[in-house]
Amino acid sequence: MSKRVTTADFRRMKQEGKPLAMLTAYDYSMASLVDAAGIDAILVGDSLGNVVLGYDSTVPVTMDVMVHHTRAVSKGVKRAMVVGDMPFLSYHISREESIKNAGRLMQEGFAQAVKLEGGSEVADNVKAITDAGIPVMGHLGLTPQSVHQLGGFKVQGKDGEAARKLLEDAKRLEQAGAFAIVLECIPHQLAGAISEAISIPTIGIGAGAGCDGQVLVINDLLGMFSDFTPKFVKQYANLKEQIVQACSSYVEEVKDRSFPGPEHVFNMKEEELKKLY
Ligand code: KIV
Repeated sequence: MSKRVTTADFRRMKQEGKPLAMLTAYDYSMASLVDAAGIDAILVGDSLGNVVLGYDSTVPVTMDVMVHHTRAVSKGVKRAMVVGDMPFLSYHISREESIKNAGRLMQEGFAQAVKLEGGSEVADNVKAITDAGIPVMGHLGLTPQSVHQLGGFKVQGKDGEAARKLLEDAKRLEQAGAFAIVLECIPHQLAGAISEAISIPTIGIGAGAGCDGQVLVINDLLGMFSDFTPKFVKQYANLKEQIVQACSSYVEEVKDRSFPGPEHVFNMKEEELKKLY
């Protein structure tokens, strides 16, 4: 069995200039496939609110839901680092509550790290969580839990002032003990500058090739989710078409009685069958 990826591997890979590959997963089966593909980290993202639960934002996702899915993913993973996402308001109210909630993702969800959104405004709670021995991945730029405050899913950090704030936030998160930072939907020049300015790895999504790693939502990569497809998504498969095709073949074969065939049934001995009558 291969060794589990750790925060030390993240640090080493940045130092050696080796890109980190992260994907989301939300259940046991998908997590085991993604792990088998050699991914470095699996994020149990609160994006499950959109792609699994059908909400129009991640705001309704709760701690219980995140623990439930993180546990399912962890059961399927042998090598990758499992990162559990902290949902809306689970790391804002107090340091104690932040530590308790992060702890649940580790103890009940069997994650190796947690992720949370925001910069200097959450830095004290990031420090409290890391001081409790829990690795924290930050998340800056387009932070979907703040979609109502940001006024929609828009590219962030496009003007000088906003860009400077994001750079400062990245430094604050590093000082607070974060081991990596997701940069979502920011100009690639800014992502490159942040990646050079801090010693912990950046993981980009819509932030260009200058990041130390990349992350995508698995349903986007596999072409299984078409409610909206951001510009930064690259579809590596079109499973939506294949799934609909497979399911409609099943419907057809059930309707014309060609499924199940003789190879799918169980037999009973003749003398046992007679006892029925
Ligand atoms: O919830 C999520 O899947 C995320 C990624 C998009 C980084 O935060």
